[in-house]
Amino acid sequence: MKEKIFLTRTLHDFALKELKKKFQIEIHKGKIPIPQNTLKLKIRDVNGLICFPYDKIDKEIIQSAKNLKVISTFSVGYDHIDIKFAKKKKIRVGYTPEVLTNATADMAFALLIDGLRRISEGDRLIRKGKWNQIYGAYDYVGLDLQGKTLGIIGLGRIGKTLAKRAKAFDMKIIYYNRKQISKTEEKKLGVKYIAFKKLISQADIISIHVPHTIETDQMFNMKIFKKMKKTSFLINTSRGKVVNEKELALALKQKIISGAGLDVFEKEPINKNHQFLKLENVVLAPHVGSSTKETRSKMAEITTKNLILGMSGKKPIYSIGY
Ligand code: DGY
Repeated sequence: MKEKIFLTRTLHDFALKELKKKFQIEIHKGKIPIPQNTLKLKIRDVNGLICFPYDKIDKEIIQSAKNLKVISTFSVGYDHIDIKFAKKKKIRVGYTPEVLTNATADMAFALLIDGLRRISEGDRLIRKGKWNQIYGAYDYVGLDLQGKTLGIIGLGRIGKTLAKRAKAFDMKIIYYNRKQISKTEEKKLGVKYIAFKKLISQADIISIHVPHTIETDQMFNMKIFKKMKKTSFLINTSRGKVVNEKELALALKQKIISGAGLDVFEKEPINKNHQFLKLENVVLAPHVGSSTKETRSKMAEITTKNLILGMSGKKPIYSIGY
């Protein structure tokens, strides 16, 4: 009999075809993200799990799985999985870094351009029939990118790729990272290492590229917003929980900072009454940093390969923990 795997959302046809050849598969078709009690039931006797960010694969879920060998997440982020506990249970965990680096850096840069040049705001203005209310040459102006200082928080793969984009637009680039990169690489990328405190007060745009951990939880909050330039923008394509959303909404409303571009949120999808929906100076994207046809297809390929390897007791191509 074929071993069982469970997917919390559907995947590309080619991936499903591959998986069906080897395993008995079940795909969750209901509410997204899958409710915890449904997941708890479904995972009980499966051997493999394919999951997505915002499926909460916590201790309780892992504990309820009696025969689980591998968790393969369709994401570079793995903060939704209790890695420590999975390791203790000798469950392999696979994830999908590298292939989404360009797409996510592009998304961060797109939000940056959108915020500074007010593209989404202009779209809303036209749709509301308000174009004829722009009277003077000084009305509805954006900002140049050239010469602005971009502060990158977390200079990993995505942060470095964003730096390349920014360099091509003649921006100055400063960064803060747990570890300073080599002088040679700094020179190549055109970036300058700076202390966090200094970065937040010097940058015109701050882009966040750190994972969500205990250390980075709500790292951006009112205390920090007050130290940022009044004219500055915050871009977040990492994880929503790195930012205190309530305080960001207040900072945007009170013009403590000038604008924000967000692809990730504390709770996704955001609810219909969310404060951000009432603000003009924030660009919102529905967590689509990696969402290009090419990238998503590569992610599906790796997710599938990771799962297959884990099912046969091997280490996934990209593996965390055990
Ligand atoms: C990830 O892969 O972690 C991204 O947030 C995209 O889904």
